[in-house]
Amino acid sequence: MNNVSISCQINYLNNTPEPSIIAFASPESARYAGKFHRSLPNYAPTPLVKLSKLANHLGVKEILVKDESRRFDLNAFKVLGASFAIAKYLGEMLALKDDELTFSKILAEQSRYKHLTFVTATDGNHGRAVAWSAKLFGCTAVVYLPKGSSAARLEAIRNYGAEASITAMNYDDTVIHANQKAQEKGWILLQDTSWEGYEKVPRHVMQGYSTLVTEFLDQEQEIWPTHVLVQAGVGSLAAGILACFCNLSERPALKFIVVEPKGAPCLFESKKRNELFTVKGDLPTIMAGLACGEPSHIGWDILQSAASAFLMCSDEVARRGMKVLGNPLAGDQRIISGESGAVTLGALFEILSNKDLYKIKEELDLNGDSRVLLFSTEGDTDAELYREIVWL
Ligand SMILES: Cc1ncc(COP(=O)(O)O)c(C=O)c1O
Repeated sequence: MNNVSISCQINYLNNTPEPSIIAFASPESARYAGKFHRSLPNYAPTPLVKLSKLANHLGVKEILVKDESRRFDLNAFKVLGASFAIAKYLGEMLALKDDELTFSKILAEQSRYKHLTFVTATDGNHGRAVAWSAKLFGCTAVVYLPKGSSAARLEAIRNYGAEASITAMNYDDTVIHANQKAQEKGWILLQDTSWEGYEKVPRHVMQGYSTLVTEFLDQEQEIWPTHVLVQAGVGSLAAGILACFCNLSERPALKFIVVEPKGAPCLFESKKRNELFTVKGDLPTIMAGLACGEPSHIGWDILQSAASAFLMCSDEVARRGMKVLGNPLAGDQRIISGESGAVTLGALFEILSNKDLYKIKEELDLNGDSRVLLFSTEGDTDAELYREIVWL
């Protein structure tokens, strides 16, 4: 059975983005975020894995994968955003300057903020990140998950001491619910997506993601990518990374490709219309982290103006990515990558090896000189589902 399908839209409008919309990801801001993350207990950069045998097999020059399954003990990249947004909130309250934002400086003032509660709506990974960060700073977290979320993901959040529950709503309605609760109870909404009037926290979340790029720049001085593929739910991660690359104006331009599931293609559909579009309904996909119907407004602005292409992939593409990363060619390192983490490698694999997708390969200019950077954004965050997909 082959249910592989990938659709591609080239963004012919792409250009240099307005400096004001990418200013939050300037090298200076990225430095502050990096300094804060390095101050956290047990911080270590995640590995940058070079899959040379696979690159050779698929006919490209390099494939580099940043393995976020090794991010603290959280199995996903999300904590970079949540922890930095909480730090910025507390830093402002404590009148700390950006270059004073370190874990120990904030913790020293714990008695002034420990009554605070942070609330969020999440597929799982962001909730786990908020729960972990709130606990670290000594605050409380409340987390709402959309219907259909797995018991394993709920449990993982509760393990960090958060009050967590699965609602009867889809992701976008769960966000509205969390916002209402924040207003009712005086909690602080810590959402990783933005809408009109709610931009500051999600911008800080995106700023936190810049550590992915600064770590990459520290880890790899020789290979500069020609292509970067990033998976998207609401698009904050993709836009955060793209904004960092756009700010590195002295480096050669690269093709930036946004990858989404067919069950929740809100950015792909927005691109089709060249305006922000919300996908309604249950958003059926195994890629739980990417099952979002409404794009982040500030994320969309950046992606619309500077992404090179948008891909929409069936679930089978994510399955392929998980299997290939988990069963590497001799000499390549194994990466445990979950459904949302592996879709970019799955897409690259299919585009390079499936003759039916030859046109997309040409449109994206993927060839023997291509150097491709990917982010495996999660490990086996639902271990049972991971096994089911990779074993069966
Ligand atoms: C594992 C994983 N990858 C990627 C994403 C996409 O991030 P964003 O919603 O910012 O587009 C998420 C979001 O939760 C995620 O959990």
